[in-house]
Amino acid sequence: MKIILGPASKQLGEKIAQLLNAQKVPVAFKSFPDGESYIRLEADVRNEEAVIIQTTSPPQDQKLIQLALMADAARRNGAEKVKAVVPYLAYARQDKIFLQGEALSIETIANMLKVAGIDSLITVNVHQEKALNNFPFPTKNISAIPTLAEYFRHRGIQRAFALAPDEGAIHIAEQAQQVLKGECGYMEKQRDRYTGQVSMEKGSLDVRGKTVIIFDDIISTGGTIIAAAKILKELGTKTIYASCVHPILIGDAEKRILDSGVAEIVGTDSVPDHASKVSLAPLIAKELLS
Ligand code: R5P
Repeated sequence: MKIILGPASKQLGEKIAQLLNAQKVPVAFKSFPDGESYIRLEADVRNEEAVIIQTTSPPQDQKLIQLALMADAARRNGAEKVKAVVPYLAYARQDKIFLQGEALSIETIANMLKVAGIDSLITVNVHQEKALNNFPFPTKNISAIPTLAEYFRHRGIQRAFALAPDEGAIHIAEQAQQVLKGECGYMEKQRDRYTGQVSMEKGSLDVRGKTVIIFDDIISTGGTIIAAAKILKELGTKTIYASCVHPILIGDAEKRILDSGVAEIVGTDSVPDHASKVSLAPLIAKELLS
């Protein structure tokens, strides 16, 4: 097995290669003046299982094209198998048609990756697992929520209330609860399909005087976490943490979240950021060995 160090996840790729004691394939890359991407594999992959590590966080389109180009290069240079590890899988939130006339974006991406030469794909906390149903090659979705919860546990933040920002994410809070051994629950969240505006209701949460960790797959604009933090403060929560697998944190999201009363944001290196305090490398290395 050789680990191709995708430009978007070079450090993560290096950690994975080290854990697996696998050879690394450096990648030369650049953007041409008109914006087109260029990549070149700088080591041999002939007759190897080539594993590309490349997240597709913003700018998603550029990183997806780099991924497709790396797959093509691996295939053309004689790789026996091409496996993609894509911690943050872009376009997975458009996994169905919400409004007439839309594209089914995730299926378009999957088909593009197949044509590029990818044989299988590992991702982490994809927004909805069913987004992977119609992929034209085998996929595996792994969860980093227990790893994030472990991070809090090791810091002595045990028995915290694990909160999901909406009912659909309760399985995330439940995974964290198994590690933290506290309570768990969810908020009632709605998002306007046209404006993207998030609204939340208190429900019947009992969080007065408690430490609450909001667990989510993605923090993007921060709208979800800020709305949740506002309610948690009204309910008398003692300390609020926000934790996610993919800290996309667009623009000034981090500042607005901290200003809303959240003590700290903890994410993974799915998206390299200074909030990426937990590495996915051990989890991914284990999956690659299985
Ligand atoms: C949505 O259902 C996701 O699980 C996240 O809650 C959402 O993507 C977060 O986005 P934002 O930070 O923009 O509210």
